[in-house]
Amino acid sequence: MLSLLEQNRPLRWLGKQLFNREDPAAFFDPLLTSIDPMLVRQYVPAKVTGILDETADTKTFVLKPSARWAGYEAGQHVNICIEIDGVRLNRTFSLSSSPKQWQQNGTVTLTIKRLPGGQVTNWMHDHLQPGDTLALGEAFGDFLAPEVPEPLLFIAGGSGITPVLSLLDTLADDDYSAPVTLLYFVRTQADVIAAEKLHTLRQHWPAFTLTVVATDAGKTPEYLNDGHLDTVPGISARRCYLCGPKGLMDLANELLYHRAINADRIHSTFFSAPMAALPSDDLGGEVAFERSGVTVSAEGDAVLLEIAEAAKLSPKYGCRMGVCHQCSCKKTSGTVINRLTGKASGPGEENIQLCVSVPQGPVNIDL
Ligand SMILES: Cc1cc2nc3c(=O)[nH]c(=O)nc-3n(C[C@H](O)[C@H](O)[C@H](O)COP(=O)(O)OP(=O)(O)OC[C@H]3O[C@@H](n4cnc5c(N)ncnc54)[C@H](O)[C@@H]3O)c2cc1C
Ligand code: FES
Repeated sequence: MLSLLEQNRPLRWLGKQLFNREDPAAFFDPLLTSIDPMLVRQYVPAKVTGILDETADTKTFVLKPSARWAGYEAGQHVNICIEIDGVRLNRTFSLSSSPKQWQQNGTVTLTIKRLPGGQVTNWMHDHLQPGDTLALGEAFGDFLAPEVPEPLLFIAGGSGITPVLSLLDTLADDDYSAPVTLLYFVRTQADVIAAEKLHTLRQHWPAFTLTVVATDAGKTPEYLNDGHLDTVPGISARRCYLCGPKGLMDLANELLYHRAINADRIHSTFFSAPMAALPSDDLGGEVAFERSGVTVSAEGDAVLLEIAEAAKLSPKYGCRMGVCHQCSCKKTSGTVINRLTGKASGPGEENIQLCVSVPQGPVNIDL
């Protein structure tokens, strides 16, 4: 969406003029419709109102979504849609600001780290400017604060701090009185994201304890270990929230498991999911989207979400990487292979995730 404006100067000028209006959607909706009517339903325009440097490779983008945007709960994520060199790309990011900020001044923040070689994150760092516009999806995700106050432990690594920032801000605003501890793992002190905000929270919110661990500070790396968990008072009664690189998440799950913390008290958000090796033959097949009355033939390792979209259907989706379950759908018959695990489903009725399910032979979907 944005680079369309970027590349086309008259259009960009027009966008800038019209965006000063009360409801930018009045201008952008027809434009989005001309590209793809689905964009109007799934996305709203959001204007970039500020960009803050967090660390050498991380920036916070302040966005003002159009009034049509439905809002979010602390800890949730959004998809954004950006067009780069004529290709429309969706990516998922966590909202790093509190919903209260959005309610008060209509802005939200995304805190985005450059992924080496990554298309969208690098493009946003290098090209996005205040005044530009991108397309913002509705919020999703269940990495949410508990309904009643109880002691909490957050374990975050690197850019995995982003949904935690939104949660901490919200809890502090609500004067959350049960103890809240954050163990934040970064490579070096210079990699701490939102350092000022975290230190302000520590100063003004008595329930909050912050420990920053710079893993690469010493001669040998300091990864999460029992010593860190021992510093958390009453850890076995804590509800735990994990967000960070896979290594940290695996380690945290293992250590918490050994402390008999029940899995239903451990909440995790994954930023990426590793793909399994798939069988190279017998993938694809005839896919019937029953409620839509559409049947298509698919080949290779295309997933059902891509197959449905290629057939001009518009199933709901979020992360497109098997993390958020937004695309869950009923398969009424047939076998699919899960791209994340490489495992085959049963042949009968069951719920599957469209974005990671590759048909293996004929498949019927309740869509
Ligand atoms: C629920 C959720 C919330 C997220 N929140 C944030 C956030 O708040 N801030 C943030 O900076 N990032 C966040 N991410 C990660 C972010 O979505 C990806 O880093 C981003 O999609 C990369 O886009 P790209 O176009 O730059 O890279 P791409 O061009 O898509 O990827 C380039 C290469 O990197 C690999 N890759 C893609 N994503 C990752 C990853 N996360 N880790 C390692 N390798 C990867 C790809 O397989 C590919 O080989 C979140 C992801 C999810 C699922
Ligand atoms: S879109 Fe997120 S799991 Fe499929």
